Amino acid sequence: MKKKIKNINFGSGISSVEGTWRFNKNVANVFDKHVKQSIPHYNDIQDYIVSLSEWFIKDNSVIHDLGCSTGETIKKINNLNVNNNYEIIGYDTSKKMIDLAKKKVNSPKLKNKKIKFVCKNVLDIKKFKKSSLFISILLFPFLKLNEKKKIIKKIYDSLETGGALICVEKIRASNANYEDIFNQIYFDFKLKKKLNERQILNKAKSLRSSMNLFSQKKTIQLIKDSKFQSCEIFFKCFNFLGYIAIK
Ligand SMILES: C[S@@+](CC[C@H](N)C(=O)[O-])C[C@H]1O[C@@H](n2cnc3c(N)ncnc32)[C@H](O)[C@@H]1O
Repeated sequence: MKKKIKNINFGSGISSVEGTWRFNKNVANVFDKHVKQSIPHYNDIQDYIVSLSEWFIKDNSVIHDLGCSTGETIKKINNLNVNNNYEIIGYDTSKKMIDLAKKKVNSPKLKNKKIKFVCKNVLDIKKFKKSSLFISILLFPFLKLNEKKKIIKKIYDSLETGGALICVEKIRASNANYEDIFNQIYFDFKLKKKLNERQILNKAKSLRSSMNLFSQKKTIQLIKDSKFQSCEIFFKCFNFLGYIAIK
């Protein structure tokens, strides 16, 4: 007998087949709302990254945003009051995310800098254009350890000396006690953001086979092992970590 496929609800109008989390059309359409219900201080994180990026946008700079989703970071960088000529390239595997990003960034209010979007798996990109800045907000948790190591090396090789990687990751706490406390606080955060218990549990279940999380120590060690000159944490909120690494 054929197994009955059950559709489950994640909130923000998203539903999917149990056991899967995909950044598909269904998710892309409500992503901007859903991400704010799922990531603590999402707007602040975006603002901090845009502020940090000012130190790395120079004349003729190329900026890469890996896992750009609907282009929120690119839109905000484009709104910065910097006069340099620069190019920003956003990458995402989801065509719908890229379509929405193009729409967001082409809004007439935005200044006309050189912005491109590439619908591709970043792991399939052989070589990135030489760059002064890579940004990656919450892409790395969806990569396996060997994939993450490979992409960090590729980023390092494509950065100019003095260029930076600005990254936000979801991590694991340093021990089981903190992990338990932080996860419960995370669920409380989602409840406050008007997701219900069923939706929170459904999302956690759907992510079981999609996320690969490491401790802060291991996360920073991977960056140090990749020969970055320095690495500094600019954001930490329970299991969310933002860091900047300079080549
Ligand atoms: C949590 S979202 C990123 C959020 C976004 N950076 C922001 O600031 O709002 C992760 C994104 O990475 C994309 N993604 C996942 N794996 C990818 C890969 N291997 N290559 C490119 N994009 C990927 C997903 O489609 C999704 O849009």
